[in-house]
Amino acid sequence: MNLRRPNVLSAQAPASGLCFQRLACESAERERPLQMDPIAAFEQYEKEALAALESAADADALEAARVEFLGKKRGRLRDLQGLLGKAPPDQRPLLGRRFNEVKNRVTEAWQRRKQELEKPEAVRAQLDITLPGTPLRLGRRHPLTQTMDEFKDIMGRFGFSVAEGPELEDEYHNFVALNIPEDHPARDPLDNFYLAAATTATKGLRPDGGSIMLRSQTSTVQIRVMERTKPPIRIVSLGRVYRPDTMDATHSCMFHQMEGLMVGESVTMAQLKTVLRLFATAYLGGDVHIRFRPSFFPFTEPSVEVDMSWRGDWLELGGAGMVDPNVLRAVGYDPEEVTGFAFGLGIERFCMRRHHITDIRRFYENDVRFLEQF
Ligand code: DAH
Repeated sequence: MNLRRPNVLSAQAPASGLCFQRLACESAERERPLQMDPIAAFEQYEKEALAALESAADADALEAARVEFLGKKRGRLRDLQGLLGKAPPDQRPLLGRRFNEVKNRVTEAWQRRKQELEKPEAVRAQLDITLPGTPLRLGRRHPLTQTMDEFKDIMGRFGFSVAEGPELEDEYHNFVALNIPEDHPARDPLDNFYLAAATTATKGLRPDGGSIMLRSQTSTVQIRVMERTKPPIRIVSLGRVYRPDTMDATHSCMFHQMEGLMVGESVTMAQLKTVLRLFATAYLGGDVHIRFRPSFFPFTEPSVEVDMSWRGDWLELGGAGMVDPNVLRAVGYDPEEVTGFAFGLGIERFCMRRHHITDIRRFYENDVRFLEQF
């Protein structure tokens, strides 16, 4: 009996002569289906149909597969039906049953896939959306950054704007213009980070031919602001300063200061004390007392050390005073016309006091267990 039907897969073969030629030349692998018996053709059809339906990624792809494998007008199913019609009559009941079984399985596979594609993505991907998610670790601002932001905010409410200055400074702004003479111990190379390479590279560029260094104080910004601004002035400048100190619980070779400067007609020391008291009260909350102790700084006259008492303990905050007439003259101001006050406070100290931090090194170790508490 002859159950063969040479053109059983003709629906797949393109109609152009060129392609027929190519098809004929291709390997025996590809030619075999052309001589397939109906049972083998059914199997091949089922295999291909199930694979196509299963891999249909969306409704459009599934519909295309349905038209190809189950379409009534010109799908592959019709080819198989034709094959059935050509089989000898005694074979037909068996082949007919097989044909129906295959057709039913393919139809079921299509329905299954259709239902699956209609489900939400999460269900299809077998995601358990009730499982707890992976927690995101949220970053936060460093406690010192938070403190500085708060300082700027408070001083902003008193009319002080924020000024910036370079951390890599020249001797002129760090010392000379601040009335700190050549032989002053504060200029000792052992007490400062002078940069040998930068100094060589910039020799002759500075009017005074001085060295380049990491600034040892934020008072440098007073000079930079006054050089480019006419009074009245009300600024604060916050940032890093560098000194070759040995690290311990209260010292660090890099720390932060807030510099303040107010210059104008008849600015007084009483205003200085009021600003400092209001500032400390705003940061720490009531019950703050400010105490001035006589001191000396080359850039202020008179000069004071500023102490603060809060909740019964005294804490040294930094230095302050009335801007020295020599400094005003160095930036081209007339000390007969304007006066000013200045102060420089350690930022770490304030923050440590408020948060009961006992070791300054905690700020710089990047230990998340510490940083997470702020
Ligand atoms: N720059 C000084 C220091 O780092 C602190 C200081 C003292 C700043 C007196 C000032 C001031 O503005 O007037 O030790």
